[in-house]
Amino acid sequence: MFLKHLHAIPAITLLLAILTGTALAGSPVFNVDREYYPYYPSLIKWNKSKAEFTPPSVCKECHVKQYKEWAGSVHSLAFVDPIYQGELNKAGKAVGHEVTRQCEGCHSPAGMVAGEIQGAGNSGLSEMALAGVSCDICHSINGVTHWQTPSHEPENGSFILTPGVETKEGIQLLKHGPLKPHNACGGGFHECVESGLHLQADLCASCHQVYHYDAHFPLEATYIEWKHGPYAQKNILCQDCHMVDIENFKRSADEFVKPERKEYRHYFNGANYLLTYLAAGAAKKAGDTNHAKILMKQYEMAVERLKSAGDLELAPVYRDGHLAELRVRVKNVRAGHNLPTSLTNVRQMWLEVTAKDETGKTVMTSGEVRNDGTLPDNARLFNSDGMGENFHFAVDPWVITSFSRHDTIPPRGYKDVFYGIATLGMAKSLSIEVKLRYRQADQKVAEALLGAVPKDIDLKKIYDLKAVPPLPVVDMVVKQASFPTSH
Ligand code: HEC
Ligand code: HEC
Ligand code: HEC
Ligand code: HEC
Ligand code: HEC
Repeated sequence: MFLKHLHAIPAITLLLAILTGTALAGSPVFNVDREYYPYYPSLIKWNKSKAEFTPPSVCKECHVKQYKEWAGSVHSLAFVDPIYQGELNKAGKAVGHEVTRQCEGCHSPAGMVAGEIQGAGNSGLSEMALAGVSCDICHSINGVTHWQTPSHEPENGSFILTPGVETKEGIQLLKHGPLKPHNACGGGFHECVESGLHLQADLCASCHQVYHYDAHFPLEATYIEWKHGPYAQKNILCQDCHMVDIENFKRSADEFVKPERKEYRHYFNGANYLLTYLAAGAAKKAGDTNHAKILMKQYEMAVERLKSAGDLELAPVYRDGHLAELRVRVKNVRAGHNLPTSLTNVRQMWLEVTAKDETGKTVMTSGEVRNDGTLPDNARLFNSDGMGENFHFAVDPWVITSFSRHDTIPPRGYKDVFYGIATLGMAKSLSIEVKLRYRQADQKVAEALLGAVPKDIDLKKIYDLKAVPPLPVVDMVVKQASFPTSH
């Protein structure tokens, strides 16, 4: 087992490992049984049999409604996503299949376990591999593998895929779902298995906890953030906010009321308006206006979700009767986890502040996007800085082994930011505008990732992208207030 992998490890590393006694079999903080996890660093297991995975176009024949909802989701784009493909390509070149296998375990599990996907690029892949997190991923999950790890916590694809079994009567497809099966369940195509896991956040957890492939650092920790917060305590699950429409999501978030069974939808709608917007453009260009509409609906929902996630409160701070500071309280009112969550070293949420005197003259600004699309140093960001060795700033997930700065807002929590104000001159009052803004990435980071997509993905042909345009920004909250400069 061990010897089989030796050829992939450069001799010098091996020599060093032997000399220094470091074990190549696993990280010292996360030493797992590699025989039990054949796809390590992905923790997936696959009950392989003649019962194969079924691509979504087949499920669609009987489940049109779920198909249409899912087809606009980021899950359906998880593998073909050009931003993902750019990063995957870089990962393959920098580290090799040892790390890309981990990525694929979450972004296209069926394509990975079948050995079909060997790195970045879309050419020659089956529908099942291209479909990313498709129907038959979630509905083939019949168990978890995290009890056998040192942490016992879900992460890095710690689930078991069982698309079906071989019986005396032949191959039987099994689909696991929330319902008690009845006689006609599956329409003769599949058997139905009632699964408690599908009614728990643990179903999502195995993919929504991303750890560094070797150092075991939590790069994305959405599930743990949720689990340690007020929504988990009140049994409001990922599904209750992300598998419903916007109105029902707001009700789940505000009133801690669980949706009714008939209200669940396969939208998996989150914050990634950029990806669904790009995909809608591609669908339109390919002549599929219906699909473009479905994707644009998800785009609008993601923007709407972001606009309802936060809130701002502005308050003046006086010292010796003079306005000395502006306090901006940034609240997470509707995200079930930290705001923002996952990929926080790439996502950007920040404050833009402008203060004007009564003549309209600007006396203070902070956080305005520069002409080249980057943010100024004075921008107050809520996200993380990824760190490699020794405070070295890093973006790539195989380099980041800690966060040098981790600053996000807990669920139903807030953070205060204080802006010093020098009210020089005769200003009697200040009018202040504060925006809470969000975008998927820094301009330069987006350019670097899109610039790294493999050759078989032609951004111009598919998305009509010649250069990376300025990334769109969503204003999540905008608040104005006026304060006298003395009192
Ligand atoms: C444990 C599951 C998991 C693993 C392993 C994983 N990812 Fe992801 N990835 C996710 C999830 C979940 C998101 C969505 C996060 C979000 O949108 O906030 C994501 C988002 C991304 C994005 C952002 C896509 C966009 O459109 O903005 C990129 C890029 C990405 N992953 C690359 C990678 C690469 C490269 C690897 C391997 C080094 C990897 N991922 C490994 C689960 C995983
Ligand atoms: C990310 C995981 C995931 C994916 C992908 C997914 N489902 Fe589901 N599905 C679920 C969960 C969770 C439920 C239970 C929702 C609930 O509580 O009612 C569910 C419920 C269902 C149900 C039961 C009825 C209902 O709508 O609640 C059907 C049928 C179904 N899914 C079919 C599909 C089909 C078809 C696809 C692909 C087009 C698909 N699912 C993709 C997780 C998933
Ligand atoms: C030939 C038609 C047909 C096909 C194809 C089909 N299903 Fe079903 N499926 C059904 C019927 C009928 C039911 C019962 C629906 C009901 O009771 O409302 C069902 C129920 C389900 C349920 C709910 C079961 C439960 O116990 O909660 C899930 C999940 C499901 N299917 C997933 C899938 C997936 C995933 C695919 C593709 C891999 C698929 N189905 C393909 C006909 C089909
Ligand atoms: C097999 C792995 C897997 C499972 C299981 C899974 N997800 Fe995901 N999810 C992903 C990946 C990968 C992405 C990011 C795809 C991308 O951006 O390219 C994602 C993206 C999302 C997004 C969109 C994020 C954004 O930025 O808009 C939401 C919301 C989401 N998942 C919710 C859920 C929920 C709820 C469940 C459980 C019912 C779940 N996921 C189960 C892998 C998974
Ligand atoms: C109370 C409602 C609520 C619950 C519960 C909830 N979320 Fe979210 N989620 C949101 C909102 C609102 C956003 C948009 C703001 C943001 O990005 O954090 C969001 C965003 C996301 C994103 C995209 C983050 C980004 O900025 O790219 C992912 C991924 C996600 N959620 C996954 C999950 C998972 C997995 C769970 C369960 C462990 C979960 N959510 C539970 C409300 C919720």
